[in-house]
Amino acid sequence: MKVAPFAFRQTYATMAVEANSAGPEGRDRREPSTSTVFSEKHRAKRVTQPTNQRRRVLSGMRPTGKLHLGHLVGALENWVQLQEKYESYHFVADWHALTTDYAGTSELRTNVQEMVTDWLAVGLDPKKATFFEQSKLPEHAELHLLFSMVTPLGWLERVPTYKEQLDNIRDRDLHTYGFLGYPVLQAADILMYKADFVPVGEDQVPHVELTREIARRFNTYYGRVFPEPQALLTPTPKLPGTDGRKMSKSYNNAIFLSDPPEVVAAKTAEMFTDPARKRRTDPGNPDICPVFDHHKIFSPQAVVDRVNHECRTAEIGCVECKRLMADHLNKSLTPIRERRRPYEQNPRLVWDVLDEGTRKARIFAQATMAEVRAAVKLI
Ligand code: TRP
Ligand code: SF4
Repeated sequence: MKVAPFAFRQTYATMAVEANSAGPEGRDRREPSTSTVFSEKHRAKRVTQPTNQRRRVLSGMRPTGKLHLGHLVGALENWVQLQEKYESYHFVADWHALTTDYAGTSELRTNVQEMVTDWLAVGLDPKKATFFEQSKLPEHAELHLLFSMVTPLGWLERVPTYKEQLDNIRDRDLHTYGFLGYPVLQAADILMYKADFVPVGEDQVPHVELTREIARRFNTYYGRVFPEPQALLTPTPKLPGTDGRKMSKSYNNAIFLSDPPEVVAAKTAEMFTDPARKRRTDPGNPDICPVFDHHKIFSPQAVVDRVNHECRTAEIGCVECKRLMADHLNKSLTPIRERRRPYEQNPRLVWDVLDEGTRKARIFAQATMAEVRAAVKLI
């Protein structure tokens, strides 16, 4: 069989448009992308789900420990909204963490616990959505293996994040089989649950596109088992770290969801501002100030408008402006702190949520794998 061309740049643009225009509400969500020769063939066979069934979203996160404001506005707030309308599956991608951090796993358990505690603290609700741990479901590994048989090496070598990370991550050796196969494992995660939508940030769109390609190729060989999922681009407001760079644990510039109010205030007081505003009497430019980016997300509109004006006229000083921002940020974090308390006091509750979710996910995963094994003629 001819290997389908796989052009990330072009498909990425398509996906972004699709995600914005069709979105979860779009009736035309099943319209295939036109990037491969397989689309036409499968268009006719596409089945529509009964309308009384909620459509499914699935997304995973690597366990990096405590989550920060960037995770909140870039993913979690969106997940919290999605659980109201969709059948939601969210999982801890612990095997994915191993693809880069295989050499040091001593923190893995703590990282999982801290991350899922944050999930529950922001309002993700085990009564509404399913939360599980990838490594507790060997079905993911089995599907990954079968997908690895049909995934051309070229597709993986062309994934933009692959070369980028090989070049950028210098302190670890990423020339491994597992790291190259990262997107194949992700495809297994997504297709296992026949997800309609995958809420992700822009950087992950190529992985969802590759997932669609793998689904098509598998279906071509073995019959139609997998629907093609769509990326659901999370609109991400700009929220830099305290030093103005991208907020990241490794840059030491993050405000964590679990930071107590005094720590939030102290970190805010240290934040970078408009560097040209040296004296209190100098007018400032909020458009280039990370404090203002935070205001825009966490302060009421009236405060945003006031800062926007009074910074430019030097009516407000940076010290006061930061104090104001920290107050509103702390107000936004209060409900998160309250929801966190029971889980912090009794971490067993967190593991119970994962156990229960894993049990539910396993039923789905076993059904998919029975179908897959039959399709491949392994049974
Ligand atoms: N690769 C994703 C990330 O780094 C994590 C992930 C793994 C994922 N499997 C997934 C996301 C399946 C969505 C669906 O953020
Ligand atoms: Fe930034 Fe506020 Fe200072 Fe203006 S007044 S530079 S927005 S911290």
